[in-house]
Amino acid sequence: MIVAETRAELREALADRAVVPAADDPVILVPTMGALHEGHARLFDIAASRSGQLVASVFVNPLQFGPAEDLTRYPRTFDTDLQLCRDHGVDVVFAPSTAEVYPAGEPMVAIDPGPVGSILEGASRPGHFRGVLTVVTKLFGLVQPDVAVFGQKDYQQLVLVTQLVDDLCMPIEVVGADTVRDGDGLALSSRNRYLRREQRLTALSLPRALAAGQAAAAEGPTAVLTAAEQVLAAEPDVAVDYLSLRTLDLRSPARRGRARLLVAGRVGDTRLIDNLAVELGAASADDGGGWPDSVRGAQT
Ligand code: PAJ
Repeated sequence: MIVAETRAELREALADRAVVPAADDPVILVPTMGALHEGHARLFDIAASRSGQLVASVFVNPLQFGPAEDLTRYPRTFDTDLQLCRDHGVDVVFAPSTAEVYPAGEPMVAIDPGPVGSILEGASRPGHFRGVLTVVTKLFGLVQPDVAVFGQKDYQQLVLVTQLVDDLCMPIEVVGADTVRDGDGLALSSRNRYLRREQRLTALSLPRALAAGQAAAAEGPTAVLTAAEQVLAAEPDVAVDYLSLRTLDLRSPARRGRARLLVAGRVGDTRLIDNLAVELGAASADDGGGWPDSVRGAQT
């Protein structure tokens, strides 16, 4: 496995015949911010199951953090990250410094994520998706992958990256990977390590709410939101940011068919997000009427 810290080293690694057996083998990119866990490992495994050269990027992107967010305390575990990459078939780790990615400081040209970028996470974290899509575009430019793998854990990010590639005609296949959860149901996240023991138990109300919503799906959207809200209401130590039932492309509130139930909340100082697929059955008579898109928090 080659570790490249500069653009030049990356170029060299990508051209290395020992790593790329055939010049026309696809390049597969898995972008990460490090603090790697089994969720990231799943992405590497999916990428490694395709033939080609597997590149993992490890870069904590300042542009996607708000001024009051956890950029400085974001966990950095580079040595164990490298071991996990080695164990999961990564060929090249690209781990640049901030100056290597942003040599002139904040870029003058950035990606506008459009309307889906300003709801849900985008409403709570202004500028977040502009930062995400800008760094992803830069990574795409530097690595020039044929395939890029992202997790459904960050469902809105996955939707926006898919839209980015589509709208800007990038010749890249975007692959979405299922969310990896701990045995208790909590979605793995680099931020889980901030949680104290009792906070972790509190945080479980997020996946429980989603599961309760999913279980009520046959009764329609009102039942889904009510069931999920009941679970959240029983856990006052979660400050719910939003609970929202949307169409798969996130553009509208979901009324029927395949949909996504998304939740975000704070436990202490730690902000957590999660989501689940929901197959909505026939709506009851009042569904599609006045029921709000989300029970708490505005995001349209
Ligand atoms: P990061 O949070 O490190 O996540 C990197 C990738 O791992 C993302 O595609 C994310 O959805 C996926 N992932 C995280 N937890 C997961 C889980 N429990 N199961 C499955 N996949 C999971 O997302 C980012 O970094 C950044 O925004 C980035 C795209 C790298 C741009 O800076």
